[in-house]
Amino acid sequence: MTVNIPSLTEARKRTNNKVLIKKNAYQLTEQQKKIGLNKKYYLKTYGCQMNEHDSENMKAILNDMSFQETDNLEEADLIILNTCAIRENAHNKVFGLLGRVKHLKQTKDVLVGFGGCMAQEEVIIDEIIHKYKWIDFVFGTHNIVNLPNLIEKAYHNKKQEIEVFSCEGEVIENIPVKRDNKYKAWVNIMYGCDKFCTYCIVPYTRGKQRSRLPEDIISEVGDLIKDGYQEVTLLGQNVNAYGKDLDINYTMANLLEDVAKTGINRIRFVTSHPWDFNDDMIDIISKYDNIMPYIHLPIQSGSSRILKLMGRRYTKEEYLTLFKKLKEKIPNVAITTDIIVGFPGETEKDFQDTLDVVDICKYDSAFTFIFSPRVGTPASKMEDNVFLEEKEERLQRLNQLINQYSKENNDKYLNKIVPVLLEDYSSKKKDCLKGYTDTMKLVNVKADSRYLGKIVNVKITSVKTWSMDGEIVNCENYVKN
Ligand code: 5AD
Ligand code: SF4
Repeated sequence: MTVNIPSLTEARKRTNNKVLIKKNAYQLTEQQKKIGLNKKYYLKTYGCQMNEHDSENMKAILNDMSFQETDNLEEADLIILNTCAIRENAHNKVFGLLGRVKHLKQTKDVLVGFGGCMAQEEVIIDEIIHKYKWIDFVFGTHNIVNLPNLIEKAYHNKKQEIEVFSCEGEVIENIPVKRDNKYKAWVNIMYGCDKFCTYCIVPYTRGKQRSRLPEDIISEVGDLIKDGYQEVTLLGQNVNAYGKDLDINYTMANLLEDVAKTGINRIRFVTSHPWDFNDDMIDIISKYDNIMPYIHLPIQSGSSRILKLMGRRYTKEEYLTLFKKLKEKIPNVAITTDIIVGFPGETEKDFQDTLDVVDICKYDSAFTFIFSPRVGTPASKMEDNVFLEEKEERLQRLNQLINQYSKENNDKYLNKIVPVLLEDYSSKKKDCLKGYTDTMKLVNVKADSRYLGKIVNVKITSVKTWSMDGEIVNCENYVKN
């Protein structure tokens, strides 16, 4: 039986030890390759792109173990939850599904695994040990590579297996991946985060910032091109800090340029922290046509006082200066953001500063959240005298303004011709495919399956707040709006 329990104190530690890059850590025994024969797995993913991508790794591992995927919970022999810890409502959703899974486990023989960011939290593991004894195995974000051993042990031992390391982490290069999309791929460029914004659990659940080596990233992109991929999204919690932990004098600007030179048609990157966004990066983005004019630039709050309490390392004015520079230097750029309302002690005046920034930036869209205290983070201990009703009311006001600007930005696309990568059938419109513009606008396009995976010129015929409709036009050069 394995019991490795997480510790926030350990997870917070950062040493100067060099990150270990392991090229052959993932291995399967002959026995493990057969464990899943005639068995199906159901994998549910919560949270951000990083988690989605981790699930793509888990799927490939389960595939190697001969399991088949099912999207029907009831027929699964193995159920895995890949969880998110960023806010309390993510927790609630997971515990909601666990209720159903428990019920199922009483009626049939099914193995249940609990993984991802929630597994890295002490309080959650405590709850699992005491209240969810029926969960068969638990694994953390650093333990995905060991999934075959854990599953094997869980089948043999009847005791709960828990393997959650609270280390700074390593970089493991040979974990396989089963991608959900045939045309767009996520490519990790770094793991973890060292920013420690005071509200955020990520530096604890994901560990120290660890950049992958440039050659490993470029080689992955090269393989994707060979496999017909059109688009890559470079993934990290704070991609602009890429390379700072490597001692090779190589930055995000260098990486962007080298990825652009591979010739892949579309490059995106998330998430950018304003602090590390330098002029070199802006120059490279504007220089290469295959780096998409789309930037997700979380501001979190428009109040310099709150930003300081959040540990964000920039003021409202500094953010606005960067924002203006991006708009000036990158033609046609779309910028989106994340905003937290109701941070401890946020006054109406602080909130007005946030609305003020939104009025200036007129974001293409934004993800907005009510502050959710996460155990172990500094902000969870700050005095919070704002009532929930007040926070909800602020969120509503903010969302109204955000939606207004989303629609206004979208309106500018009407009758314009824009490039769209058609990636799937539209779930909303019959006889349509869906895809995204270079600026990340969702468009439903009248087209048949021949166009799947193609970047086409689309004339926008109608516009809503969240999406647009369009038709393919036969012209070689699209007009940038
Ligand atoms: N409460 C609310 N929102 C949070 N985020 C991160 N931590 C919290 C929290 N404790 C938001 C931030 C971040 C996004 C991914 O989630 O806006 O950019
Ligand atoms: Fe969390 Fe801040 Fe790191 Fe983003 S930069 S993951 S908000 S600590």
